[in-house]
Amino acid sequence: MEKRLMKEAILARENAYTPYSHFKVGAALLTKSGKIYHGCNIENAGYTPSNCAERTAFFKAVSEGELEFDAIAVVAGTEGGELAFTAPCGVCRQVMMEFCDYETFRIILGTSPEDYQVFSLKEILPFGFGPKNLT
Ligand code: THU
Repeated sequence: MEKRLMKEAILARENAYTPYSHFKVGAALLTKSGKIYHGCNIENAGYTPSNCAERTAFFKAVSEGELEFDAIAVVAGTEGGELAFTAPCGVCRQVMMEFCDYETFRIILGTSPEDYQVFSLKEILPFGFGPKNLT
């Protein structure tokens, strides 16, 4: 499934709207029920309204009623260039903290379906703050 998600993330990146950074990101988010939601980064002339690929995928899924997630693949690179290993920004990690299991949710990062690494949320967001802290 990791390879499939990498392929889907590469396809999702095609729709990235990046007239300002020219840095294109694609994400493929797998729900526990087996559905895949795609996301790309969407920039804005006002800069701050820009949205990352990972959050686009999460917000699409949550807005459709999905709340249980298994894994996300993320690919990124400058327009017209090679893909480069890229890890999610801090805000996207925090969104994962809201919806994903700290130890079992898989974050798949790499440059092709043959070249990727798998991380847990705990690994990429140590000492995370999430819903459990408020109970
Ligand atoms: N970006 C993402 O979509 N995901 C990340 O994990 C890092 C950054 C986007 C935001 C912006 O459109 C562009 O990459 C440059 O920061």
